[in-house]
Amino acid sequence: MKHFLDINVTPADDLHQIIQDARTIKDARAGQPKGTPDADQPLAGHMVALIFEKPSTRTRVSFDVGVRQMGGQTMVLSGADMQLGHGETIADTARVLSRYVDLIMIRTFEEQTLLDMAEHATVPVINGLTNRTHPCQIMADIMTFEEHNGPIKGKKVVWSGDGNNVFASFAHAAKQFDFDLVFTGPPPLDPEPELAGLYTTVRNPDEAVQGADLVVTDTWVSMHDPQSARERRHNQLRGYQVNDALMAKAKDDALFMHCLPAHRDDEATSSVMDGPHSVIFDEAENRLHAQKAIMRYCLGK
Ligand code: CP
Ligand code: NVA
Repeated sequence: MKHFLDINVTPADDLHQIIQDARTIKDARAGQPKGTPDADQPLAGHMVALIFEKPSTRTRVSFDVGVRQMGGQTMVLSGADMQLGHGETIADTARVLSRYVDLIMIRTFEEQTLLDMAEHATVPVINGLTNRTHPCQIMADIMTFEEHNGPIKGKKVVWSGDGNNVFASFAHAAKQFDFDLVFTGPPPLDPEPELAGLYTTVRNPDEAVQGADLVVTDTWVSMHDPQSARERRHNQLRGYQVNDALMAKAKDDALFMHCLPAHRDDEATSSVMDGPHSVIFDEAENRLHAQKAIMRYCLGK
């Protein structure tokens, strides 16, 4: 049994194998209707709990569809509707759920909630986003990059905007997949200090994207950020919008990524999101394939 908690705590060889498996899983389904069961049904007889303490479209649907394609069943649980939201400890919740289900995916606020769940569960736990990281997203993003532009090793990835949870998983991936990561954003929204050494900072976005193979951004206000910070963040981040002028400074074949959901024409213009560099909907699709590979890894299937 293996958890999938973060990219920095998963061995690099395992991460590479997961990406390769995701590719195989995707290829095997090419051209089939989306509801077609996978031939090998690796999760037959398995029950998966999907716990959400925050909203979700992609994570929720891609995990649910992925489990069903693999022959398993899911239970989508809202944290607020569970005793978890009314004072039951994470440890007790983990012990109880482990008696019913074979795998737990949780999207939560504090990282400690995820860690407590993993410590006390006797079934694998997958991180579906915390305030600190979003590893499943970045696995899908690496798969997407390599589909379009080949190995990510040695490539230049530029993050423009808030140094948030999605950035943190890119920083972990930079070390494990051996690519160069540049952060461009305002000092108050710098990534957390624990990530130092995994990326370099270039304050001027025009300078930062020179020679970039991939330009990435994300919402300026994450789900865990107070809405009261909205105006201040917009003022701080306006200069880091990914628009056509910025993309023109990257390599000609540079890709543009955004994990979605986006606030169009804030962090990135619609012209970029819908333009020739954009692979945003491939990223969303690859959540499905990458997470199927992650679930198989966790369950040893
Ligand atoms: N990218 C992502 O995790 O999207 P959702 O919040 O819709 O799950
Ligand atoms: N940084 C965003 C990502 C959403 C998928 C958030 O945490 O809200």
